[in-house]
Amino acid sequence: MSQLFSPFAIGPVTVPNRIVVAPMCQYSADDGCMNDWHLQHLMNLAMSGAGMVVVEATAVERIGRITHGCVGLYSDVNERAMQRVIDAARAVALPGTTLGIQIAHAGRKASSERPWEGGGPLKDNADPWPTVAASATAFDEGWHVPREMTGQDMMRIATAFVEAAKRAVRIGFDSVELHMAHGYLLHNVMSPLSNTRTDGFGGSRENRFAWPLSIAAAVKAAVPAHVAVGARITGQDWTDEGLQVADAVALAAELKAVGLDFICVSSGGAHPRVRVQVKPGYQVPFAAAVKAGSGITTRAVGLINTAVQAEDVVATGAADLVAIGRGLLDNPRWGWHAAEELGAELTYPQQYARVTKRLWPGAALARPK
Ligand SMILES: Cc1cc2nc3c(=O)[nH]c(=O)nc-3n(C[C@H](O)[C@H](O)[C@H](O)COP(=O)(O)O)c2cc1C
Repeated sequence: MSQLFSPFAIGPVTVPNRIVVAPMCQYSADDGCMNDWHLQHLMNLAMSGAGMVVVEATAVERIGRITHGCVGLYSDVNERAMQRVIDAARAVALPGTTLGIQIAHAGRKASSERPWEGGGPLKDNADPWPTVAASATAFDEGWHVPREMTGQDMMRIATAFVEAAKRAVRIGFDSVELHMAHGYLLHNVMSPLSNTRTDGFGGSRENRFAWPLSIAAAVKAAVPAHVAVGARITGQDWTDEGLQVADAVALAAELKAVGLDFICVSSGGAHPRVRVQVKPGYQVPFAAAVKAGSGITTRAVGLINTAVQAEDVVATGAADLVAIGRGLLDNPRWGWHAAEELGAELTYPQQYARVTKRLWPGAALARPK
């Protein structure tokens, strides 16, 4: 019996299987508003067979977008645009498929070019904007120097997280997750690589974690009990000076204590010069450490590309859920094929059901190798 295709309760939300579409920026929004690109993207992924589809990093305030194309939930217009897309995705989703959203603030990595424009800081003629961060240190040479957040900035941004979460609840999401990884604002504040503050939010781990934890608590308090709340955190910063796996375990335990339902363990992005040693399943050991050390529901991510590999992550208990990013962009029917390979039942859309061997055994579809 496939464990990957067994149902699971993420706090108040039951998913039909353990496959999650990882949040993936499309850099294609208009002033934070989703459009037809997101419509096709999310409608397709809602039929992928994944038990949960997580919408890309969604900025909680306008200056918290990474690029001019990033999605936001900082205005009524943003909310309406997203509502249209999410309603459509739900209308075609496979039975039981749930929808989550990642809410985020890019901090000093905001005001950037889309990846296909170079991915660097926006040039003067490309409508750049001032950025904020834990400390007034640029991400890299030539990047915008952010303003060190004042107490007022921190209050405004904390409120923006709460307001964006409320908008997400109104839209009907089943889960809301905070982006606390990849060098964006909340990670930037927690990592000793980027936080050199001398006030109560810098220095010790307790100080660095305090503000992100208060945001997690505030979001949890603002979200009704039927919606799951979680966070994507960094498993480690890949350098001795940065966050370590033990910090990730401690953070997960604290997030659990403030009521969060799940954690996704990623890594990287804190510092441009730090090399991440990437290989299949390279972040699974971090997820396993977080799960074992904190007891919170844990999602693994990062180069988990095959059905057998994903099954193994869940069956061995390394993580409860598996997020897949590029594998699902490449093959938005990933879940169908995984079910077939692992001998699991999956309800296909009736319109496409004849691709299954079960319905037409004598003339099974020959899939190119
Ligand atoms: C196009 C693209 C956009 C991404 N955007 C986000 C994002 O919005 N939030 C996030 O936490 N990670 C983002 N990521 C990272 C993925 O969620 C995932 O962690 C990473 O791609 C590794 O998983 P994979 O090997 O299955 O692709 C993005 C990755 C890709 C390829």
